[in-house]
Amino acid sequence: MKTRAYAITAEAIEAEKNRVGGDLSQVDVANVIALDDLELRDPGPRDVHLKILAASGEHNVDHAALADTINITESRGGKIYPGNSALGEVVGIGSEVTKFEVGDIVLTHCNGDPDPFGFPLRIWGYDMPDSIGWYAKDAVVEDWQLVKAPLDCGLDLWQMAALPLRAPTAYHLWRRALGIYRVKVTREQQSILNVLSFGGGVGELFLMNAKAEGHNAFFCSGSPARREALEKLGIVGIDQKAFNRFADKGDVKAFSGEVKKLTDGVGMHIVCDMLRGPVWPAGFAASARQGVNVSAGWQLSQVIEYNSTVASVKQLTIDHTHYETLIGIEAATEMYGSVYKPTIHDEVYAFEDLPRAFEEMHQNTQTGIPILRIADDMPASVKHLIP
Ligand SMILES: NC(=O)c1ccc[n+]([C@@H]2O[C@H](COP(=O)([O-])OP(=O)(O)OC[C@H]3O[C@@H](n4cnc5c(N)ncnc54)[C@H](OP(=O)(O)O)[C@@H]3O)[C@@H](O)[C@H]2O)c1
Repeated sequence: MKTRAYAITAEAIEAEKNRVGGDLSQVDVANVIALDDLELRDPGPRDVHLKILAASGEHNVDHAALADTINITESRGGKIYPGNSALGEVVGIGSEVTKFEVGDIVLTHCNGDPDPFGFPLRIWGYDMPDSIGWYAKDAVVEDWQLVKAPLDCGLDLWQMAALPLRAPTAYHLWRRALGIYRVKVTREQQSILNVLSFGGGVGELFLMNAKAEGHNAFFCSGSPARREALEKLGIVGIDQKAFNRFADKGDVKAFSGEVKKLTDGVGMHIVCDMLRGPVWPAGFAASARQGVNVSAGWQLSQVIEYNSTVASVKQLTIDHTHYETLIGIEAATEMYGSVYKPTIHDEVYAFEDLPRAFEEMHQNTQTGIPILRIADDMPASVKHLIP
């Protein structure tokens, strides 16, 4: 079965790197991702054939295009088909599929290879060998990779499409961070916590979990539009640019002082930092005693440094997560609409405009999570969900 899908090739990465003379800050991501003809495998008995309706732009495309963490395209043989968050319509099922029927609207998740405890060894559409991502018109996936979309959750179609990757990531970060904090300080001892996250879709959802459970939530972002959206949910905004995005130690000190003011001198019990780089020392300094700093991202750097003595004396815990288990993904999906109310970027991008969407993500000019409309014709079951 033939389809149209976006691909990133090692040659395109190399050509763009040469064009900008190796200066990664000048890379135009739109030059690296391109539409391709793709032959999908013949569906097997456990397979589901999906027509992709909408997808969200995920930051790992940026990492793949820049090859700034690892050159994932090269390590996967020179070409990848990215895209690990989508919403689709079931248009065909294999003989052994019982969980889904033709016509169902489903979400994909990106746990591509669960370990014995359910945690992903590999991510679908990224480092999972032979995985074909979902920035494509059609897809063939096994049924365990799909979750029914909660069409009556109160979210519109674009909001739902924003969540399949980010919501399970946020949910996992949240339940881990809270669980670790509660090993140290019980609910009997302290009920309400101060919770901080920095910018980005995952961080926003993380704070929605905290707020929904009655905690004090703080969002430190450089984007006024994204802060404003969270302030409507009662989450306090802190302008990251007022602290020069933590360019030097003085900025971190000033931020830490502001956090002390906002929290009656206590600091943040839980910090979510998906960015690292200069954000890391700010989150570390803002921590309360017994604090937990949790991360599943490395957008600004892969390596962190900290003073172990300070961390010991403050009883701090630094935790790293990756992505949810299959059961956890189902649990995260239950919170669509009630807890997770994602902020969507102003423009819903057409399929043809996907490369521009990724360049705008790279430029950090989007006012929310970018959504890609993949299908022109939408099934009747979702037409009322399109704003
Ligand atoms: N392990 C996983 O499963 C997983 C899942 C999802 C994401 N991630 C990773 O987590 C990171 C964030 O992803 P996301 O989806 O939450 O983000 P996103 O919605 O794509 O937003 C990116 C955010 O990065 C911030 N940013 C950009 N440049 C910055 C800078 N120079 N200094 C400080 N902040 C800057 C912006 O914050 P402002 O609002 O302050 O401008 C922006 O909101 C990415 O690296 C992604 O690959 C990992």
